[in-house]
Amino acid sequence: MDWNITPAKTLSGEIIVPPDKSISHRAIMFGSLAKGGMAVNNFLSGEDCLRTLNAFKEMGIEITMEENNKVIIHGKGLRGLKKPAGELYMGNSGTSMRLISGILAGQEFTTILTGDESLSKRPMARVIKPLKLMGAQIEAVDGGDHAPLRVTGRGTKLSAIEYNMPMASAQVKSCVLLAGMYADGETSIVEPFKSRDHTERLLSYFGAEMRVDGLRVTIVPDKELRAKDITIPGDISSAAFFIVAGLIVEGAHIILKNVGLNGTRVGIINVLKRMHADINVLPASIEFEPYGNIEIRFSELKGTTVEREEIPLLIDEVPILLVAGSMAEGETLIKGTGELKVKETDRVKSMMYNLREMGVSIREEGDTLIVTGKKNRILNNSSKLESFGDHRTAMSMAISALVSKGECVIHDTACVDTSYPNFLTDLSRIKS
Ligand code: S3P
Repeated sequence: MDWNITPAKTLSGEIIVPPDKSISHRAIMFGSLAKGGMAVNNFLSGEDCLRTLNAFKEMGIEITMEENNKVIIHGKGLRGLKKPAGELYMGNSGTSMRLISGILAGQEFTTILTGDESLSKRPMARVIKPLKLMGAQIEAVDGGDHAPLRVTGRGTKLSAIEYNMPMASAQVKSCVLLAGMYADGETSIVEPFKSRDHTERLLSYFGAEMRVDGLRVTIVPDKELRAKDITIPGDISSAAFFIVAGLIVEGAHIILKNVGLNGTRVGIINVLKRMHADINVLPASIEFEPYGNIEIRFSELKGTTVEREEIPLLIDEVPILLVAGSMAEGETLIKGTGELKVKETDRVKSMMYNLREMGVSIREEGDTLIVTGKKNRILNNSSKLESFGDHRTAMSMAISALVSKGECVIHDTACVDTSYPNFLTDLSRIKS
C-alpha cells in the first residue's frame, strides 16, 4: 500500500492518540502471570500487541477482547502457563520476543519463538547472554544471534545475577527482571543510562517487590502478582508525529488528549522545548502512569544538540525529531545513534535516504547524525519515499510531506498497523 500526501495549508483540532504500545504489551504479559481476573481498558490492538496477546492465549491464558479496546485477562499466576501446541510467532515485535524470552526462561516447558523477516535480523544476543548467565537454556536455532530462539525450561530455579547492561535498553532490562521472578535470589540490573520504566511501574502496581536506586533495579523472586484493572494512556511515541506536525505547519494549533507523560518517555518534549517549541503540557492525573493533554502551536524552531544519555528517553522519536530538525534554523545534532540501526529497520539509513530525497542536508559523523534546517522551510516533494517496512519511518515521512512543495508518495505503508492503524484518518481530520 502507498500513501499520497499533499501539503497542508494548516492543521487544527483535537486527536486522541492510540494507546501506549509498550504498556499494552506489558499489561497482557503481567496480567497473564498475575492471579485473578482483570480488565485492561484502552488496549492497543495493533499488530505487535496482538502477537503478545495470542502468545499468552496459546500458553493457556483466557483472554477476551471486548468492545472499545477493552481486554479481559484471567491470569493463572507465575507458574500457570502451559506449553503451547506449536511455535510462538512474534511477527515484527521485538518487545514481544525479548520480554517473553525472559518469562519462558523460568518455565518448565520448551518453546520456539519465531518472527518475520525484519525481526529475524535483529540482535538477540543481548537477551541470550544474560539469560544464559542465569543458567537458562536459550539459543538461536541457527546457532547465531537471531530468531528463531529455542527456550528450554528446566523447572529448576534460575540463578540470581547482577547484570551490568552494555546498552540502555528497556527490552533487555525487562527480560532480565522477568526472569528474575524465577530466580533463587534477588536479581539486579544496572543500566548505563535510564530507559523507560513501564516494567518497574506495572510489576510494582501488581504487587511485585522491586527496588529502584538510580540506574540499578532489583527484583525479589517468587512474589505472587495480584491482578488489578488498568487503563492505558495514549502513546507519546504516536503523539510525537502530531506534536512535530503542529510545530512545523504554519498556523497549526492541535490538542492531543490523554497522552502518557511518564518521565522516561517525555524526552521528545524536553528536546523540542529546547528548540523553542510552543508546547503546553497539561498533566491530568497519575494512576500507575502519569498522563495528560498536550497543546501545540506552530513555532519557529531552532537547532539543538541531543546528548547520548537522552537517546533512551526518545529512542523511537528520533525519526520524527529529524523531521523537526529539517525545519529548524541551523543544525540539529543527535549523538549516540547506534541503537537506531537495530530497530524495525536501520533508521539512520532509512531517514537519511528519505530526507535527502526531500532535499534536506543530513550527514553522519561517527555515531552522530547532523541535520541542517532548510532555510525557506519548504521541502522538496518526492514520489520515491520509502518506509522500508518500518511504521515510524512511514509516519515521519507523511508529516514531512505536509511541508513539501507538492504531493509526495510514500511506499509500503501497511506496516503502520503495527502501532497506529488510524494514523491517516486522524491526520485527515485535522488537515486543511
Ligand atoms: C521498548 C523499548 C525500546 C523501544 C521499543 C519498545 C519497550 O526498545 O525502541 O519500541 O517496550 O520496552 P529498546 O529497549 O531495545 O531500546
